[in-house]
Amino acid sequence: MASSFEKHMDMKTGLIETDVTFDIEKLQNEYRKILEEFEPFKREMTAKHTKIDNFGGFCLRGIDKDNLGELSYTKFYKEKYNKDITEIDFSSNTMLYRGYFKEILDELESKLDNLYRIRIIATDSGLDYHTDGDYFRYHIPIHRSKNFHLNLDVNGKIEKYHFENGGLYYFFGEQRHSTVNPDRENRVHLVFSSYNALPPS
Ligand SMILES: [Fe+2]
Repeated sequence: MASSFEKHMDMKTGLIETDVTFDIEKLQNEYRKILEEFEPFKREMTAKHTKIDNFGGFCLRGIDKDNLGELSYTKFYKEKYNKDITEIDFSSNTMLYRGYFKEILDELESKLDNLYRIRIIATDSGLDYHTDGDYFRYHIPIHRSKNFHLNLDVNGKIEKYHFENGGLYYFFGEQRHSTVNPDRENRVHLVFSSYNALPPS
């Protein structure tokens, strides 16, 4: 882990809205290519393992290089491998780590040191309040749902945040958070974890 960019934030911090932006057309084209190529596979995998058909996606870097379906749930792997799973276990690239996603993730990795558990999450629903872990969770929206928002517990006060396509956002995973998608439009985010905060550019 890079020593120069030690974690410098804690639960007092809200969502960090960076000034980094990515080419939204390229992001959407890359996602479209994956959908065309792997949609049937994705449906089969998510239905089989999550029993949730409106919360799916793809795995670009996970525990198992052959799992392309978004199966990066700690519980699933804990049962499969019968051991405690940490974020660092999600470090094998799948064949979907490619193209424009690879280009921007390689660039981010040079600034953040290792990235873990890289996924494309697609869902038209929200998620109840939960915490993730002792790391930062980064989001790059590929398709935003207009009224979708993140609720983040910042020192006991709930702050509400919206996302723009192609932006780069992150927050500390031990902060309690939930997501709300009132219009039930699909929202698609490229999501990954890092133990480091993005250094100022
Ligand atoms: Fe979360």
